[in-house]
Amino acid sequence: MNGPSTDALVLVGLRGAGKSTVGRRVAGLLGRPFVDLDCVVEGNAGATIRSLFAEQGELAFRDLEATALTETLRLVPGAVVATGGGVVLRAENRAALKGTFVVYLSGSPGVLAARVASDPGTADGRPALVEGGWLAEASQLLAVRDPLYREVACAVVDVQRPLSEVLEAVLAAVKATPR
Ligand code: S3P
Repeated sequence: MNGPSTDALVLVGLRGAGKSTVGRRVAGLLGRPFVDLDCVVEGNAGATIRSLFAEQGELAFRDLEATALTETLRLVPGAVVATGGGVVLRAENRAALKGTFVVYLSGSPGVLAARVASDPGTADGRPALVEGGWLAEASQLLAVRDPLYREVACAVVDVQRPLSEVLEAVLAAVKATPR
């Protein structure tokens, strides 16, 4: 697990974990700026993530994601940052996250896949990364990424409960950690 925090509060986890929803709410409660890293990528590129993947490929997206992460951490002090689910894949990103307070929003593949499937915005707006549907994708990605999420995390919060409890758990983790 990651060490104590500096400035940014960064949410990591798989698609469907609620990073953007939780991040926006936590930022509001803490009176801190909220940044959605996928939106920064889209803004910088002037293209949607879906079209970036389709036209330039995943590697180009990952380069933009890495730049967006370092830019955000440098330019938005104290931000609450919702990351894309694959941000932990690159060692350079994991190194950049080491200085921040990272919360891993964790859930089982079944629960996360069901959430994605029931949210047309998420299901349609993002490229599929694995063939075979959302459950196959969540299972395969989690097998690779769960250890990486845990490597960078200062706290792990189970998202398989009501949003109010998830928010409380994130806030409690932030408060419990000396700055
Ligand atoms: C990705 C997750 C997406 C987005 C991109 C890649 C991933 O973000 O960054 O499609 O590799 O898991 P969300 O986790 O917000 O869906």
